[in-house]
This record gives sequence, structure tokens and C-alpha cells, in this order.
Amino acid sequence: MTHARQAAARAVATVLNGHSLDQAVAAQAVDSRQRPFAQALAYTCIRHLGSARALLRMLLSHPDRERPPLLDAVVMCALTELRHMATPSHAAVAESVAAARELGLPRQAGLINALLRRYVRERESLDAKLALDPVARSEHPQWWIKQLEQDWPEQAGAILRANDQRAPLWLRINTQRGNRASMLERIAEAGLVAKPHPELADALRVDPPVPVEQLPGFANGMLSVQDAAAQRVVEWAQPQAGQRILAACAAPGGKTAQLLERCPDAEVLALDIDAERVQRIEENLRRLDLKAQVRCADACKLDSWWDGEPFDRILIDAPCTGSGVTRRHPDIKWLRRASDPQQLAQIQLRLLHTLWPLLAPGGRLIYTTCSVFRAENQGVITEFVDNLEAAERAQLSHWRPEGTVVNAWMPHGLQVLPGDNDEDGFFYAAVERA
Ligand SMILES: C[S@@+](CC[C@H](N)C(=O)[O-])C[C@H]1O[C@@H](n2cnc3c(N)ncnc32)[C@H](O)[C@@H]1O
Repeated sequence: MTHARQAAARAVATVLNGHSLDQAVAAQAVDSRQRPFAQALAYTCIRHLGSARALLRMLLSHPDRERPPLLDAVVMCALTELRHMATPSHAAVAESVAAARELGLPRQAGLINALLRRYVRERESLDAKLALDPVARSEHPQWWIKQLEQDWPEQAGAILRANDQRAPLWLRINTQRGNRASMLERIAEAGLVAKPHPELADALRVDPPVPVEQLPGFANGMLSVQDAAAQRVVEWAQPQAGQRILAACAAPGGKTAQLLERCPDAEVLALDIDAERVQRIEENLRRLDLKAQVRCADACKLDSWWDGEPFDRILIDAPCTGSGVTRRHPDIKWLRRASDPQQLAQIQLRLLHTLWPLLAPGGRLIYTTCSVFRAENQGVITEFVDNLEAAERAQLSHWRPEGTVVNAWMPHGLQVLPGDNDEDGFFYAAVERA
């Protein structure tokens, strides 16, 4: 069994190698009592990777010399602990050096000890230098900062700051099993504090966040964890009884479940291209006791899954950069490349063009992403609408739900920015066939 600091360093090294943080943390065989600390350390380190990397370079005499990735990870975790966590300095240094030895870096233990002690000694001047480096200051890659400044000149600073906050815990009430008043009562009885969302009737925020096992009614499907911004998608879809609904990119199934909670009589087909993630749709539906047809398929390969019957609703919750959810998934900032928004926009357009013909007259297609980059979102939906045949274009209407309290309406949709209403960043657009 691994100790917390070893597990955190291993998880961070895995992210430095290009893999997802969630999976890297989950893969660590760490004692259950140590897991929360290991997880907090790994997430905090990746959230602050810009400054941790910059400090590491300042501390090393030869920063460009090749080193074991685990060495970088141990030092950056230790710096994170010194800068952002409550551990006393001497303990953070000693325990990190011990973790390095356990991780097979005994020869580097002296170097690690010296680097960390120097940071403790010269902290003030080193931190002052960090403040001059935009990547370290904002904890985002340079290309990301530039893209945000281009896309959101007035809001870029606020978006960067919001991305660095820890995300709140938003819950969705399963309206088949309870309502807002009864859930608020049950949560209060459990000694927790929950607040309703100002616009979304089924969204509650629990503050401070707690592990889901402590939520009353979670195990028996009365509640699900889902950001408020993701919950807004159902308001755009407005499913009706008996409708045929396609959730084209459905895993892990949050929005599919929500559509069914809202409208259990709808006939929902949930597709996803990723077989492992398809299993998560099934697990989620089982927990909530909901029924949908679930299939593993590429939504763009119609021959492999479509029976020729049109849909009343098509939900394209498209694969995207995830640039709106980095407060939950800080690794996204470091794993994405500058070319990704354009590349993903092409994939999103292909999904829209392929699935639009499957929409029944009077039906509505909803395109949504958890991104804030304009090459996706507004760029994609504008190009889609502009390139439809003239006859079809004449039949388009752009539908918007009433009562939305967030305020970034775009010509073809709604952009919620991270932190608006304490929500994730999300984009929504609806295109109807007349
Ligand atoms: C943003 S996630 C969907 C989240 C989901 N709608 C929910 O609410 O839980 C995007 C999903 O699209 C899937 N995907 C990507 N390309 C696809 C394709 N061509 N066909 C079907 N699914 C696809 C990915 O595997 C991923 O699970």
C-alpha cells in the first residue's frame, strides 16, 4: 500500500506524461484513510502546475538537464504542500524526501531536500519572481491565456480566476422521487447546508461539499451530482412524454438520466463511442432506476445504429476542449493543445451535419459544450446554420428558454462563463425544424 505523498507524486507524474488526473488518482493503491490527502495534494498540485513548474526551474541549477519525471512530481507536490496546504514546512520537506526514497529515488533524496529547504529559506523572493510570470500567476498555459484574451477581452481575467477556484458541489434532485422542499428538509436533517439555484428548480448547492455517501438519498437515487450549468441543458431540451429522443454523446449519462427523470415516458436512445464510458451510462441509469436504450456506436456512422425513424429531440453534448470545467478537472489546462479548439470544432460540426437530417419536423436539436472558446460554440453553430440548404434555413427558429438568469446571450445561443452563478462554463444552442 502506498503512502499519500507517494500516490500523489505518481498521479502527478502520470499527468505530466499526458494522462487524465481522475484516472491517475483512481489507479493509486492507497490506504482509504490516506486517499483524501493524496487526492487533495495531486489536484492542488495540478491546479497550480504553472507556478510549481516555474519554481522548480528557478530552484534547479540545470533546469534543462534530463531528470526522472517522478523527481519533478515529488518536488512539485512538496512545493504545493508548502505553498497551498496546512502542513508545517519541516514536516512537508521531511515527508516528501522520505516519499522520494520510497519511490525509488534514494540517490536524488539529497537534491530534493536541498531544493525544498532553499524554497523555504528564499520563499519571499522566489514568490515575488513568480508574480512576474503570466503562466505562473494565472496557472494557465500561455496559449490558453491568449485565446481567452482574444475570445473574451473583458472577462478573461475573471475567467482565469474562476478556473482556479475549487468547484462547489451542485446536486440534481430526481423529481420522480422528491421535490426541492422535501430534499432541502432531508439535507438539513443530515446537518448539511444546501441552497437552491436562483433559476433551476432541481439544482441545489451543498456548502461545504461532502462525500456523496454522506448525502441523504444519494444511494437510492434521489440525488445526483451534476453542475448547475449541465443541468440547464434539460431546459433547452424540454422533453415531452412519448417523444423519441437521441442523446448522441451520452456517457457517463448525466443528461440522459436527467431527461428521463423529467420525462420517464420518453423513448431515449443513448449512444456513446467509448465502450468503457457506455458502461457508466448503464450504471447511472440502474442507480436511478431509469430505462433507456443504451448503445456503443459512433453517432456519425448512421448505418451502424439508426433504424430510420426520426427523432423529436437530438441532444449533441459534444466532445469539446472542456475549457469551461477546468476548476473540476485542472489537468485539462495542461493536457490540451492550442490546435484543439479548431480540431474539436470540426468534429462538432460533423456531428451536427450528420444528425440534423434525423430530426423530425417540429423537432429540436440541442448543441451544447462545456467550453468557453469561441472556435467551438458560437463558431460551430454559426457555421452550421450558415451552411444549411436555403430551404432548411428558412425553417429554422432559434428557441431560448424563458427565465434564464445568466446573461451572455450570443447570436445563436447562450454562453455561461465559469463562475457565473457559481456554475461551470457551458454553451447551449437550439435549432428547430419548423
Ligand atoms: C461531453 S461528454 C458527454 C457527457 C454526457 N452527455 C453527460 O451528460 O454525462 C462527450 C462524449 O462524447 C462521446 N463521443 C465523442 N465522439 C463521439 C461520436 N462520434 N459518437 C458518439 N459519442 C461520441 C465521448 O466518448 C464522450 O463520452
